[in-house]
Amino acid sequence: MSKKILICFGTRPEAIKMCSLIHELKKDATYLIKVCVTAQHREMLDQVLEFFEITPDFDLDIMKANQSLNELSGRIFIKMDAVLSDFHPDLVLVHGDTTTSSVCAWAAFNKGVKVGHVEAGLRTFDKTSPFPEELNRQITGRISDYHFAPTIISRNNLIGENVLESDIKVTGNTVIDSLYWAVDKLKNNYKNETIVDLEATLDFTKKIILVTGHRRENFGEGFLNICKALKQIAKDTSVEIVYPVHLNPNVQKPVIELLSGYSNIHLITPLDYPSFVWMMMQAYLIITDSGGVQEEAPSLGKPVLVMRDTTERPEAVTTGTVKLVGTNFQAITQNTKELLEKTALYEKMTKAHNPYGDGQATKKIVEFIKQKLG
Ligand code: UD1
Ligand code: UDP
Repeated sequence: MSKKILICFGTRPEAIKMCSLIHELKKDATYLIKVCVTAQHREMLDQVLEFFEITPDFDLDIMKANQSLNELSGRIFIKMDAVLSDFHPDLVLVHGDTTTSSVCAWAAFNKGVKVGHVEAGLRTFDKTSPFPEELNRQITGRISDYHFAPTIISRNNLIGENVLESDIKVTGNTVIDSLYWAVDKLKNNYKNETIVDLEATLDFTKKIILVTGHRRENFGEGFLNICKALKQIAKDTSVEIVYPVHLNPNVQKPVIELLSGYSNIHLITPLDYPSFVWMMMQAYLIITDSGGVQEEAPSLGKPVLVMRDTTERPEAVTTGTVKLVGTNFQAITQNTKELLEKTALYEKMTKAHNPYGDGQATKKIVEFIKQKLG
């Protein structure tokens, strides 16, 4: 009987990073592959599933408006128990650092099922930043049997935590596999209504600044500072600011309250993945607190100002595409204005490089699984 693999995820970034792996795994008939989405996100998850043409076998339909982390975790534990009892997988694959990842890994462990962790070993070693992702990732690392580390730095973090070298594979990040897929489609004239709308709405004679933000540790004062800084930039410079606003109510409320009504700030709904990639390609500069965007932008040669004090992704900071600016008003406005005005500084940050992989991560993960599972 063929071995069974259950792939679990629940949020937009996990979906973007796991869908290309699902396609790679399904190329090989050796394994019976099933997909379980917790649907910790709903609309933002479904956008991605649709683009990658993935229909989940199990949909836990967990999302509730603004639920607490404990309620979210409890509901995933209960529903995962039933899925694991029904499917009896030999291996559960989880991704990254969300509540879905750590709880699905833990639920599998409680049932005696092996766990593989994609995007393993990223660390800030600060439990409060990113919150709760740093601890989610550490917990998932403790539980997992196989660790797919995107970079040497992440592999070394795991070795430092006594993970056996033979259980780690450095693969690059699957986000680059997905990015190449999307860029390829866009270069082959893929267009959708959203892209057509954006082409009609935005003034492309101006520099475009693309903004995203959603980190829990930035809620409250952090977001107020971010909004104040964006308002100042919109007032003082001739740019178009495009801000697809994350659906989390803690983000929606301050952003819509503080940034509505400015002709050069475009607050829009979260973009479907290909439209977001297209938007990154049009951007002069990206300002974000996102993990995934920090990984994608270097491949596109786009400078990124990261609104965080710490990052578990130091590679692109070292190579120079990414700069940490925190949520400090002064740091955000100052650094943005410098990049708008100083060509040499800007060009230094635009050298395209791929510290997070070469688009072959999914293939390497599948090879390693075959080695381990047989
Ligand atoms: C979650 C992850 C975070 C990841 C981010 C990616 C945790 C604790 N957080 O944060 O690590 O970086 O996703 O975006 O795992 N909502 C909707 N529709 C959606 C998605 C969210 O309405 O499609 C609203 C709901 O009210 C939901 C709330 O946003 O309750 C928060 O969602 P949640 O997944 O708990 O947190 P995120 O901030 O999205
Ligand atoms: N993204 C998207 N639409 C948007 C904003 C982001 O498809 O409106 C994609 C982006 O390309 C990246 C991922 O979502 O791959 C990042 O997700 P997010 O910032 O929500 O989470 P994080 O990466 O911080 O966990």
